[in-house]
Amino acid sequence: MGPVALLVLCLSCLLLLLDVKNISKSLSNLSKIYGPVFTVYFGMKPMVVLHGYEAIKEALIDKGKEFSGRGSFPVAEKANQGFGILFSSGKRWKEIRRFSLMTLRNLGVGKRNIEDRVQEEARCLVEELRKTNASPCDPTFILGCAPCNVICSIIFQKRFDYKDKVFLNIMERFNENVKILSSPWIQIYNNCPALLDYFPGSQNKIFKNVDFIKSYVTEKTKEHQASLDIHNPRDFIDYFLIKMEQEKHNPHGEFTIDNLTITVSDFFGAGTETTSTTLRYALLLLLKHPEVSAKVQEEIDRVVGRERSPCMQDRSHMPYTDAMVHEVQRYIDLLPTNLPHAVTCDVNFRNYLIPKGTTIITNLTSVLRDDKEFPNPEKFDPGHFLDEGGNFKKSDYFMAFSAGKRMCVGEGLARMELFLFLTTILQKFTLKAVVDVKDLDVTPVMNGFTSVPPPYQLCFIPV
Ligand code: HEM
Repeated sequence: MGPVALLVLCLSCLLLLLDVKNISKSLSNLSKIYGPVFTVYFGMKPMVVLHGYEAIKEALIDKGKEFSGRGSFPVAEKANQGFGILFSSGKRWKEIRRFSLMTLRNLGVGKRNIEDRVQEEARCLVEELRKTNASPCDPTFILGCAPCNVICSIIFQKRFDYKDKVFLNIMERFNENVKILSSPWIQIYNNCPALLDYFPGSQNKIFKNVDFIKSYVTEKTKEHQASLDIHNPRDFIDYFLIKMEQEKHNPHGEFTIDNLTITVSDFFGAGTETTSTTLRYALLLLLKHPEVSAKVQEEIDRVVGRERSPCMQDRSHMPYTDAMVHEVQRYIDLLPTNLPHAVTCDVNFRNYLIPKGTTIITNLTSVLRDDKEFPNPEKFDPGHFLDEGGNFKKSDYFMAFSAGKRMCVGEGLARMELFLFLTTILQKFTLKAVVDVKDLDVTPVMNGFTSVPPPYQLCFIPV
């Protein structure tokens, strides 16, 4: 079949039932007819869709092992060649994931060490925002730098100036890859991999960017090797090098340079855009709801004051702020259809037989917008995470980071960044909209598989 016929076939299969701009909504509509478990054909591939808390919990948590495979992502597979953590499966994924979680813990996620780095970054972020002199600005670039620098400091033990050429180059390459990977065309390529060979443009750009990252990480790894002290590992690369040395006689070992470079690249890919988009959306929602900003600022004043930097210990005394951050993540529903999973063996699920390797789509929107758990789910209301006494109220339906064995590796880090960056910004500035608040549009723009805020400007007025 020629490329045009193939493209027409793929497009028609994909578009007949689904609105590619809002896949999660189309899937929710289908679930009204077909129930919580059904199959759709994306292109020529069958995928099982799970809708609602019960079905998703049963799969990702109760049958976690069986549902822990990664669904196919041909573009990423070609670029990463099966290495790393994000798109790998089986023994490799298990080992690299266990190592990554342990290393993040060793480096102090949830402890002082990484908290210090995030606090330092929060202070730099505030200094950059101060340079806008309270005039209208689009916060996208600055809010992109801070999470990227946090990953840099975990991986390379180094933060960069926001004008540093190397830093800007790294950010640009990743942003470009995220942009390409989330374009509707790539969704079509992914479901019709044969097309990749006919339209090589974007694919080549992705490969070029991955090659750049690989060579940068290789160069940094050489520097690390030269100065490594095995008794005093400084960062993720040092921990990986130590593990490589311990496993060097294991012919089936996973601790290789290829897995190091792609895992580092996965950390940037998974940990930068997600956090920065959430921050950007949070500021837009705070602009739209000045009554929420005022309550958060009142809590900051009362618990932290104006002088010292907010820290993670403060969070347990700041239920309203904690609820606001959860509500931002619930409301924006950043990854509405999650990353695709796959079943690792034939699975009997609610009387259906799902064959090994089948891709599984979990519709996280159906959990985050459940109207029994969150009354009025379309409304932005931190009250969704507060009890009658104003205490923070946890919810099992908070699945912004997914759930089970494949759940986000960076959850602890991301939650720390969101809390510290947002409280530090609101401690130092009042947010001012440049249009009438009632004209501020907060409707998401679907960007492939992520939900992004519409472009906007605001002023940071020093308090
Ligand atoms: C607001 C910020 C973030 C959100 C909403 C988020 C959300 C997610 C989600 C939904 C997944 C897919 C889970 C699944 O397959 O079931 C994921 C995976 C992942 N995330 Fe995050 N994430 C965020 C920040 C971060 C950060 C800061 C890091 C950096 C360490 C990170 C690293 C990862 C990795 C490595 C995976 C792949 C896990 C695997 O395949 O086993 N994420 N994230």
